Amino acid sequence: MTELTTQKDNALAAIAAASTLDALDEQRVDALGKKGWISLALKSLGQMHPDERQQAAPAIQAVRAEVADAIEAKRAALEEEALAVQLAKERLDLTLPAPDAPRGTVHPVSQVMDELAEIFADLGFAVATGPEIEDDWHNFTALNMDESHPARAMHDTFYFPESDNTQDGHRMLLRTHTSPVQIRSMKEQGAPIRIIAPGRVYRSDSDATHTPMFHQVEGLVIDRDIHLGHLKWTLETFLKAFFERDDIVLRLRPSYFPFTEPSVEVDVGYAKENGRRVVGGSGDDPGHDWMELLGSGMVNRRVIEFAGLDADQWQGFAFGVGVDRLAMLKYGMDDLRAFFDGDVRWLQHYGFSPFDQPTLSAGVGARP
Ligand code: DAH
Repeated sequence: MTELTTQKDNALAAIAAASTLDALDEQRVDALGKKGWISLALKSLGQMHPDERQQAAPAIQAVRAEVADAIEAKRAALEEEALAVQLAKERLDLTLPAPDAPRGTVHPVSQVMDELAEIFADLGFAVATGPEIEDDWHNFTALNMDESHPARAMHDTFYFPESDNTQDGHRMLLRTHTSPVQIRSMKEQGAPIRIIAPGRVYRSDSDATHTPMFHQVEGLVIDRDIHLGHLKWTLETFLKAFFERDDIVLRLRPSYFPFTEPSVEVDVGYAKENGRRVVGGSGDDPGHDWMELLGSGMVNRRVIEFAGLDADQWQGFAFGVGVDRLAMLKYGMDDLRAFFDGDVRWLQHYGFSPFDQPTLSAGVGARP
């Protein structure tokens, strides 16, 4: 028994002296573990004479309880101490300036779409949207491209399996342009109408200047007595506001799109500065050239009829332009693929502050 008391005193002293949870656990194993001295003492009860055991058992149990309690108490104390240290370390002085924290940026495509919405809202245009999963009626047929139309083959279309066809047998696809939003908007709202429709479009195409997903913005104006002059003025006003300069010169070239008649391709004058194309000036000026920027035209009367309107009463113009292309021209990126890599360094460099909303008064292209 005296030996047990000595062992107990030693253990209690070691427990009290333990300065870490690991050191404390060593004591626990030493005393209460399978081969610990208390466990061995308890085992020895089996070999004792019953009288002896009657005396020894409560004494050993008392030692066991005392040591176990001491370990528990010490553990609680050490844990509390560790928590206090951690809390002290993580203490924040809220009166100090905020530390640097990672901050996201607005993607240039989103930024340009916001700029477009701002510019066109000022001209009385609403923003319309349509589904990216479209049917071939809205994407092609209603835009005057019936099944045999060669222009259908020019769009490298992602089709869904036939089993996903709509109930009326229309083939489902990823829209190849934002033009189907023209049809949906006319059907839903009737005329007169003034909308832009920015969004994602998809074509099976991939190189430095093409990605399978890219962005377009569609414009549509339907009213009475609309003519090409309205189209030219609208595009000029838009491009001046967008590029934030007054010397934007446009050249309208005859072209062909099934959904417009007549169709015009619009070129913009630019100069090369430090290897970069800078929009501005006439393409006929010395050192300048023309660059093709967008497609447009007077809406084909067949399209107006497909959308359920009376083409003798209503006419208008439409245009379509690549949003990524506009962003590259304005903000000077040269590889389209980087737009969709999600590389944080690229986003930090070309992205915009979320606090910097484009407004006409403060400048639609404020830099971060
Ligand atoms: N939808 C055409 C394309 O993706 C672009 C376009 C051209 C849209 C002329 C128009 C337009 O509204 O009038 O290539």
